[in-house]
Amino acid sequence: MAADSIKKTIGVAIGVCLVCSVLVSIAFVQLKPIQDKNKELDKLKNILQAGGIEADSGADIKAVYEKNIEPVIVDLKSGDIVADPDERIKPENFDIEALAKDPAYSSVIPSDKDIADIKRRPDRMIIYNVKDPEGSGEIIKRIFPMYGRGLWSTMYGLLALDKDMSTIKGFTFYKHEETPGLGGEVDNPKWKGLWKDKIAFDISGDKVTLKIKVIKGVVLKERPEAKFQIDGLSGSTLTTRGINNLVRFWLGHDGTDWGSTGYGPYISKLIANLKGNDNE
Ligand SMILES: Cc1cc2nc3c(=O)[nH]c(=O)nc-3n(C[C@H](O)[C@H](O)[C@H](O)COP(=O)(O)O)c2cc1C
Repeated sequence: MAADSIKKTIGVAIGVCLVCSVLVSIAFVQLKPIQDKNKELDKLKNILQAGGIEADSGADIKAVYEKNIEPVIVDLKSGDIVADPDERIKPENFDIEALAKDPAYSSVIPSDKDIADIKRRPDRMIIYNVKDPEGSGEIIKRIFPMYGRGLWSTMYGLLALDKDMSTIKGFTFYKHEETPGLGGEVDNPKWKGLWKDKIAFDISGDKVTLKIKVIKGVVLKERPEAKFQIDGLSGSTLTTRGINNLVRFWLGHDGTDWGSTGYGPYISKLIANLKGNDNE
């Protein structure tokens, strides 16, 4: 056969393709556990970051997480902790995206209540309690996962509330596909810092009103409502609106079954408990 025959050329091309695909498959299979481990570590780092917990460089992230964080599963409708979650919703297996797609573990949100534009949400969610670093056993913050539609993507974030259940201690997005420099500025530490010590709820007597809002433009600091407001992202009205809607969806509670779109019933119970303790 001539060295440059068509048959030989095709044979060599097929051979190269086969060798390459085998190499890529081997690399994929061998790297998958490392990728999964990195993904898991990344998730833990995000939770620690939302909780304002510093991990030294080189620290064992899993150990820092286990020392500081205690995950619990909450039934969103009743607002109760699920004492004995089944395998799918155990903290170590909890996968918000997978659960939201599974009709056995999630519900369709009525369209008039779906301000976060997510269509369905898990019936139970995971909450990460931040423990007192001094070891008193007290919960000093709670981190609430939340998600909703931005302009280009569903944005997944973590919002930390102080033990007073109203002061925001941190907010970070761990997954989104908004445009870098525009909606992607949600990752800018300066913008994220604006959330710290803002107030989510106005609590007066028995009445709890959701107040936090991400506004278009810049918050006027001298106004009394400034403590309930966050600057919008400039040139990114649609991402800004999405963030406002998702935060209000997950923290909202208008007293009806589906008004409790997110953590409302759970948060109401914790606020009522706090008041009970104050009256003792
Ligand atoms: C390539 C491109 C990417 C954009 N990315 C975003 C984005 O991530 N988030 C967003 O809200 N707006 C984005 N916009 C702008 C929106 O289309 C829209 O103009 C903007 O939200 C209006 O905001 P403004 O009223 O603050 O100017 C993008 C526009 C272009 C052309």
